[in-house]
Amino acid sequence: MNRNPLIPFLLIVVIGIGLMLTLSFNGLNNAEEIAAEKEGGGAEEQAAATPEDIYKQSCIGCHGDQYQGGVGPALKGVGDKLSEEEIADIVVNGKGSMPSGLVPAEKAAEMAKWVSEIK
Ligand code: HEC
Repeated sequence: MNRNPLIPFLLIVVIGIGLMLTLSFNGLNNAEEIAAEKEGGGAEEQAAATPEDIYKQSCIGCHGDQYQGGVGPALKGVGDKLSEEEIADIVVNGKGSMPSGLVPAEKAAEMAKWVSEIK
């Protein structure tokens, strides 16, 4: 047999290029998926965040894991002291050294209701 010694070599090169193309194509797809997830997922998270999630994220540092207070006053029974409207105003606009903008306006009512029920 007089086979061309280059044939196996060429086969390997062709397969190699094919593999590389497939892999990099998948890689690109994955990167796009991850980017899409980040964008879409982030927005969904925000919309689906419960008052408790928001508390853990934005309030716990100052008001404590048991609502016992710290930098900010204790929030236990705050609903007896303040109306939901007043609480909604505080979580959106801040008060004293409590910063404003912690809760998006469209979440304020839900957040205030939850806060007013802290016992
Ligand atoms: C940087 C610290 C800080 C963070 C974060 C913070 N607070 Fe406050 N909060 C305070 C301080 C300080 C006060 C007291 C302000 C004053 O009366 O001058 C306060 C007051 C309040 C009050 C009124 C309590 C009262 O008895 O008058 C409520 C309700 C409240 N915070 C809820 C929240 C919620 C809900 C979050 C999260 C979305 C939050 N706070 C995040 C510091 C913070």
